[in-house]
Parts: sequence; structure tokens; C-alpha cells
Amino acid sequence: MHLQLASIYITAALPVIHAALNPSCAPGGNFDLSPWELQLPIGSTGSPETISSSSLQGCSGYQDSGHQYFFTESGDGALVMKVPGGTSTGCVTTPNSKHCRTELREVDPSTGSPTSWDPNAGTNRLSATLIVPEPDNSGHGTVIGQVHIDDSVSSKPVCELYYNSSGDIVMGVEQTRSGGNEKFTTIGNVPVGTQFSYELSYESNVLSVSLNGGSQQTLSTYSLDAPTSYFKVGNYNQGTSPSDIHFFAISVQH
Ligand SMILES: *[C@@H]1O[C@H](CO)[C@@H](O)[C@H](O)[C@H]1NC(C)=O
Repeated sequence: MHLQLASIYITAALPVIHAALNPSCAPGGNFDLSPWELQLPIGSTGSPETISSSSLQGCSGYQDSGHQYFFTESGDGALVMKVPGGTSTGCVTTPNSKHCRTELREVDPSTGSPTSWDPNAGTNRLSATLIVPEPDNSGHGTVIGQVHIDDSVSSKPVCELYYNSSGDIVMGVEQTRSGGNEKFTTIGNVPVGTQFSYELSYESNVLSVSLNGGSQQTLSTYSLDAPTSYFKVGNYNQGTSPSDIHFFAISVQH
């Protein structure tokens, strides 16, 4: 009897394998979604549907039945967040925004209620590993992560990390708490459809971002003066064409 062993060639071109992700679970079976609630681009205008943290958690947690907005990719188990485009598609926005989103908003993992934290504390970090197969058609592109000012203080972000159809990644930072005047800094370029990771931190009153585990790039926070803040991560469409983002890891640390 002869056993023929298959030859295995390992090359740098092999796709990255995400062994930990189970394609037959909802996202909550593969990702710790206890620190998040989900904002969807459906529901009524000014009051889009929100899915609570407890409903998101576990292998049988929430995913939309039509696999249009928030679901597990059947091949690789990625957490997919999709937005159909601008409001002309019928998608709905939150009260203070003109744009539609499928986006996670930070909550207190012990209560599931929206939370915020002090940027002067020693550790406030958001990390994500993702592929953007389809950024929207706006100039700066789709927002893939944010630090947002506490809602009782302002409806504006501290900063938004954008990814556009050229693969350019820029950070927009508001200069004041009343906002509306983001200053943009180039962070890097990752070709569309290529996996990368980012880490966003706002700790000891220093805002910084890094790509692919590289050095932290520090950003001015102008006159913001460390407002109480929270993290957001997902797909916040800024254009009129659809956007599609696949996440392989998301974590938050305080
Ligand atoms: C993407 O962003 C870069 C940097 O801001 C910009 O130069 C480029 O024109 C943008 N691409 C598109 C298609 O708007």
C-alpha cells in the first residue's frame, strides 16, 4: 500500500487565515460585542434601529435576516457591515447626521448602556483588523472608526478615520467642541480590498493612531481640551454609493 502525501507549498501570497472565526455563528459568536450596541441604516428617519449589546452577543446573536447590513460572511466568518449609499437609497440617519451608517457605538459592558470615558485616563484604545472591499465614493471616503464627544456635551466627533476609493486613509480632527471644521491629516494608504489594522488611542490627553502595528502618529486636538468621549467602529458612509467593510478583529481597552 502506498500513501501519497499531498505537497503543501506555503507562499507569502496565501490569504490570511482567520481560524478563530466560525462562519456558522452570528458576529456575536466570533467577536466580543459586550462593549457595543449597533446603529443600523434602517428604521424611521431621525430614529434608526438600534440593536442592544445583549441582543448582539453570542453565536445566536443578532444579524439581519437578509444579510444586507450586519452579518457573518459565509466563507471566512468576517463581521460584515454594509451601507446601501446615501439617503436617496431610502436609508435612514441619526438626528445629527446627513449620512447613513451600520456602526457600533460603545456601551458599558456591565449594563449595556451608552458610556463615555475621560481622555486623561491612562488607557483608552480601539483596535480593529479589517478589509474595505468597497469604500463609498466621497472624497475622504467611509468613516471606519471614531472617537466621539459625549452626547451631553456635543453632537460632534473628536476625530474620524476615513478610507477612500484610492485606499487613502486620513484622520479628520475637530478643532472645537462645536465642530464642523475638521482638519485632515494623511495617515497612510492601503489598496482597496487589502487587509490592515489600526489602533486609535486617546489617553493621557494625547490623540494618536497607528496602522499595521507601526509607530503611533500623534494628532493635535486643538481647542478640544479632553472632552468626555466614546469610541465608534464600523461603516459610516459619507457618499452616495454603497460601502462594504469586513472586520476580522475589534477590541477596546480602558
Ligand atoms: C482620496 O484621498 C486622497 C487624500 O486626501 C486624495 O488625494 C484623493 O484624491 C482621494 N481620492 C478620491 C477618489 O477622492
